[in-house]
Amino acid sequence: MLSRRRLLVLGGLTGGVALAPFVQSGDTRNAQPQHGPMHGRMHGAAHDHAGRVPAVRSGPAVTPFSVRMPVPATRIPSVQTADTDIYRMSVQPATAQILPGLSTPVLTYGGAFCGPTIRARRNRRTLITFDNKLGHETNVHLHGGRVAAVHDGYPTEVIAPGSGRAYLYPNAQPGATLWYHDHAHHLEAENVYRGLHGFYLIDDEDERRLGLPSGGYDVPIMLRDALFDDAGNLVFDPADPYNRPTLLANGKPQPYFEVAARKYRLRLLNGSTHRVFELTLDGARMTQIATDAGLLPAPVPVDRLVLSSGERADIVVDFGQAPLGGHVTLNDVAGPVLRFDVVRRAADRSRVPAQLRPMSPMPTAVQDRKLVLSLDPVNIRALINDRVFDPARVDMQVRRGTTEIWEVTNSDTNVGGSGFGVPHNFHTHLSHFLLLSRDGKPPLPGEGGWKDTVLIQPGETVRLQVDIGSHLGRYVYHCHMLEHSALGMMGQMEIVN
Ligand code: C2O
Ligand code: CU
Ligand code: CU
Repeated sequence: MLSRRRLLVLGGLTGGVALAPFVQSGDTRNAQPQHGPMHGRMHGAAHDHAGRVPAVRSGPAVTPFSVRMPVPATRIPSVQTADTDIYRMSVQPATAQILPGLSTPVLTYGGAFCGPTIRARRNRRTLITFDNKLGHETNVHLHGGRVAAVHDGYPTEVIAPGSGRAYLYPNAQPGATLWYHDHAHHLEAENVYRGLHGFYLIDDEDERRLGLPSGGYDVPIMLRDALFDDAGNLVFDPADPYNRPTLLANGKPQPYFEVAARKYRLRLLNGSTHRVFELTLDGARMTQIATDAGLLPAPVPVDRLVLSSGERADIVVDFGQAPLGGHVTLNDVAGPVLRFDVVRRAADRSRVPAQLRPMSPMPTAVQDRKLVLSLDPVNIRALINDRVFDPARVDMQVRRGTTEIWEVTNSDTNVGGSGFGVPHNFHTHLSHFLLLSRDGKPPLPGEGGWKDTVLIQPGETVRLQVDIGSHLGRYVYHCHMLEHSALGMMGQMEIVN
């Protein structure tokens, strides 16, 4: 099924309207002013869907705030040894109730559409055996995890149908909101789209002492989009990733969530394979406390949060700012995502300290590199430095324990002469990085912590200081718009001594 779909994509993209699918129709302006001539065109495209002829325009209409948002269940380890939590989880097809009154076939971890949440503790190991009960290959990658190469879910190291594989995660890293998802080469976009995604949270003693909202007031929320047909089936069209009009929060369309009038920590993840969420909160203020790899040095008040595929932001929201019985709404530029209904009072002894986690100084970078991301619509390929991913080719050798400066450019201001630009983003496995600048300008305050994924607008160059990490072996880096990594926008580094 997957390979037939891929053929359709390739065929579809070589036709006369070939470029439409690659071209952004949503409005994904970043908080920074746009650079270059493309902004006007991209912005115009948000109001002009001409040229796109999707097979399914939109699924069944859903009344916003008519279903409750669930919180994904936390998985209990099946065995706990002195230093390891041991889990077993199947990767299996299932049926989910996503749209009211309809059943949707999905792919799942453990039967649950968003996947169970794994809660790990810093410096205590997690061992998870995943049993592949799908009819095709899969593998598992812990996004944001610093794990040995053999446990990283390398794209060609897959789990054959009917077999299992154990992944060991040391959790030797500060507390953070991570997630796990499929990474089987060429299949990752569809596998993740169909549901192979779940939260993986690392708890940290130092973090606990800060007194941030915790327990039931610490809520992971996976945001993503989808396209459904009228029968409720998920439609995966990698050639038209911008036509996914249904917004899901923890697997439900534009749900509501009942909260107490107090502070909550909300761990927001963009689990879409392509969409850039541009979020605002109506009725209360957002304070960002963490980004991809964990706590920021200090809390940052934010009006607007831009999250590209794979990025996370932890925010604290005080629902005590709203009246009892009132609503606070999380909105994307495309529409409301989630409504918080303030239904009860509750004691609140949590706090948001002025200092969260000091940034540890980084050793001086030993190497500069330039990476250029581009689409090749003529040959239906997606490239880094003009090459598609080749597992047999090492694109760079890097030295363990060092830092490097990587300048990553999105050169797609005018894809195939269409006059349209497309955004990309950039994700590194194993290594975390600091965003030093965007086109020479300082990053937003909320981007000031350790990250593993960064949005890059058309024509933009981000400058990263990459902390390579302490493992050896081959790790990939790629555009996390997974329709692009599936077409080859991925490279690999080999970490040597
Ligand atoms: Cu979230 Cu290489 O992945
Ligand atoms: Cu990753
Ligand atoms: Cu991309």
